[in-house]
Formats: sequence, C-alpha cells, structure tokens
Amino acid sequence: MAKVKGTPGSIAFVIFGVTGDLTKRKLLPALYQLESENRLAEKIDIIGFARRPWDDAFLKEVLTDGIKEFARISPPNTNTILNLLLNATYIQSEFEDRKGYEELIQYLNINNYRKVIFYLATPPDEYSTIISNLSVCKDYALNKEWLRIVVEKPYGRDFSSAQHLENELKKCFTEDQIFRIDHYLGKETVQNILVFRFANGIFEPLWNKNYIDHVQITVAESTGVGSRAGYFDTSGVVRDMFANHLLQLVTLTAMEAPYAFNAESVRDEKMKVLKSLRPMKGKAALENTIRGQYADTRIGGKLIPGYLKEDRVHKNSITETYLSAKVFIDNWRWANVPFFVRSGKYLPVRATEIAIQFKQIPLSLFNWKNMAGEAPNVLILRLQPDEGITLSLGAKLPGPVNQIAPVNMEFCYQDSFGSEPPEAYERLLLDCIQGDQTLFTRHDEVLEQWRFVTEIINAWEKNPVKALPKYKIGSWGPLEADTFIKGENREWRKLLG
Ligand code: BG6
Repeated sequence: MAKVKGTPGSIAFVIFGVTGDLTKRKLLPALYQLESENRLAEKIDIIGFARRPWDDAFLKEVLTDGIKEFARISPPNTNTILNLLLNATYIQSEFEDRKGYEELIQYLNINNYRKVIFYLATPPDEYSTIISNLSVCKDYALNKEWLRIVVEKPYGRDFSSAQHLENELKKCFTEDQIFRIDHYLGKETVQNILVFRFANGIFEPLWNKNYIDHVQITVAESTGVGSRAGYFDTSGVVRDMFANHLLQLVTLTAMEAPYAFNAESVRDEKMKVLKSLRPMKGKAALENTIRGQYADTRIGGKLIPGYLKEDRVHKNSITETYLSAKVFIDNWRWANVPFFVRSGKYLPVRATEIAIQFKQIPLSLFNWKNMAGEAPNVLILRLQPDEGITLSLGAKLPGPVNQIAPVNMEFCYQDSFGSEPPEAYERLLLDCIQGDQTLFTRHDEVLEQWRFVTEIINAWEKNPVKALPKYKIGSWGPLEADTFIKGENREWRKLLG
C-alpha cells in the first residue's frame, strides 16, 4: 500500500535511474542550489525509481552525500538539504515491471500531485521500456495541472533509432510535455552567444560571409573516457559530442535573429541552420572528417594506456576519441564559409570556444614588422573555463620603431559579474519546472541532427579502416587534423586551459 507523505501542492519529481551518477552529481546539486536561492516557487518532492534494493532512508543518505560532494557552493546548508529531501521516497522496481509503474501512479494519486516531472536518468537503452510503460500515465495526466518528461541525450544512435524513440514518446506525450536535454544549452555562456549577437548592434552587420573567413568551434577535454569506456566505445565523439553539443553550437553561431526570444521562434531559426547544412555523404564525409584515437603515451616517466587498452573497449576498436570536421551552411549568410569543428578526449586542456576569424584587410598600408598578422581580428567566445569574450586586434607597438603588435579587448564573466556562472542543470531544471522549452531541443532538431550525422557514420561504415590515426595524450589530435586544415590555408587555434 502506497504511503501518504507528499506536501500538498508540491511538484512530484520522479527520477528513473535515481541510483545513478547523473542524479548524484548533477540533478540533486542543481535542485539544492535552486532551493537555497529560493528559486523554487513550489516544493519539490523527489520520487526515486530504480532497481537496486534501497529504501527511503538510504535514498536520502546517498542524495545528501551527493549534494555535499558536488554542490556548486560549499559547504551546503544542512537545513536546506533536509528540506529538499523531506518527502523523498523510493520505489524499487525493474524498468520492465508494470507493477512498479502502477505503484508509482498509486503513490502520485494518493498524494494528489497535480504537477509531475518524469526524468529519465537511466542508460539510454532503458528509455523505450520506460516510455512505453509510462503510457499508464496518460489517464493520470487528464485531470492534472501538468505532466512533463525530461529525456537526456543520446536520443537514439542514428536517424532511425531516434525516430523510433520519438514515435514512442509521441504515443504517450505531446511535444509541449517533452523536454530533451542538451546540457550545453543550459550553460550561461552558451546562452550568451545569442545575447552577444542580438543585444548588440555592432557585430551583426559583420556576421556573414563578407567579413568572416571561417569559424572554429572547439570542445576539448583533458581527460580520457574513464569509467564510461564501455558506453563510449559504442558511441564515439560523433554520437557523444558532434551530433548534439557541437551542432547546437553551430546553430547558435549561425542562426538568424528570431522574431522573439521564445521557444518556437528560437528553435525555428536553429532548425533552418540544420536544414541548410551541406550534406556529407560518401566521399564528402570521408574527405571532410578526421578521426583519431589516443595512443599509449609516456608522461613524466609513467605510461598512460591508450584508448585500445581501456577497460571494456574492443581491442580492434575503430571508435574515434577525436573528431574534426569541415562543415558548410548553404545559405546566403554563410555561403562557402567553412565551420571547422573539433572535439576530443585527452587533449592538452579542457576548453570550449567559438572563434570567429575575420577576413584579411584588403591591402596592407604599413610596411612594418607585423606581429599581429594580416588577419588579426578574431572574436573568441570562451564558453568554459574562464568564461568570457576576447577580440584580438593589431595595434602600434609604442616606441620609435614602427611595429604592429597583437592586443586583446577582453570581457571576463568573473571580473564583470563577480561570480562564476551557474551550472547548466540549474537553469534547465528551473526552465522545465516553469514550462519554458527554449533551451531544450525540439523533435525536428534532434532528427535533423541525426539525419546529418547518420550520413557521415554510414560513409565511415561503408569504407571501414583497419585502425584510426593515433595521437599522443596531451596533444591536439592526430597529425592528419593539422595537415587537413593546413591544406585549407588555415590553422587550428592552440587553446589555453
Ligand atoms: C557529455 C558527454 O554530453 O558532455 C561527455 O557525454 C562529455 O562525454 C561531456 O565529457 C562534456 O560536458 P562538459 O559540460 O563537461 O563540457
């Protein structure tokens, strides 16, 4: 028999896979932060649903430990944690077992929750099972205020599996109930791309093929695949980063101004960019992508094992831990402007940035020593860490000798606003609670991303290689990536962490 314990009027936050890492590291610390800043207008009751034989008390203990370890501002306040977890409850069930869902619905009914969030924090291969079992909630939803479902990436592993998942979702939920997370969209600095572009008049006139030579988008990670090796080996950078975070950064950089800042118009504009991506099929995919794998590397006398020696990685795996690609957006604004995108594990630093390289000056007037180069203007949006924006310029070096030196105009978040930006999940969870879908990916975006990426994957699969180019741990990827961009008369930026 289900227990009555919810606080009347509170929101039921049901977490499937509550025993996993995501809940402990991200979801609860984010909810804690929102609670401690009094941003939650209504009380949240956590309802955990998972297989392990836990009970309410143990759930609270684990979640408390997670908040203590991962709270953004330490040490966390014990009373706030107690309050957040006051009504936390645990339902033990297999994800296939219908009875578990019946128990859940009974619990929600008895406690008269009128607002419910289902959060899928499980490995993705459980999504279909959970979603189809949640069809029992359809009737439940009828007389409630609202009901939402949050789905974490990856949504499928190619176009057809994503479409299948979408069909499953649509059997039980309507689009306005579905919140697909790409956590990059919750990052403060990612949102600032749009503010920077559309709240300032001076950059937009330059933001096109007439003034921009190319764009470089880098998501570099300084760690290897670690404990996620098993998952990663079936995914690779293409599915893990490119099909979502990188393409989302491309859309935000390239999109037109929406008619208003709301979910539909922002996502309509992003969608137009995705539709304008020049398809990369067959030969085009092979010629415009470079893959690599980190190799055994000796660092300070210690041998760090390469990707192929990671636990649960297939010994002949050709899954890429590094990927760079040249992408074109075939519309009037961006015609023939290459977007060079790259991401990799075990690169020299953890750093994410978008660099807009402006064109060369038409004619050099100064016959001086020029340390700034013929194309000194690069606008760099640093998304993490050390969040901020830099514009590099050429300036006269002081003194009687005529020389041009590179200088920077800087904006730094920490200096300007006195604090670090909040965690992505804080913003995303609050938006979900408030029903704002602007920072969540719409079904058509997800499918379009997969349509583009699936053609690349198909080309790789049809032209299998025996092994991928290797790169040293702590380097900027395989040599092939440098040769590739040099062949385009450009160079990869070397980022500092
Ligand atoms: C996740 C990927 O989506 O993003 C991980 O699955 C990656 O492999 C992570 O490490 C990077 O996110 P962040 O916020 O640390 O840049």
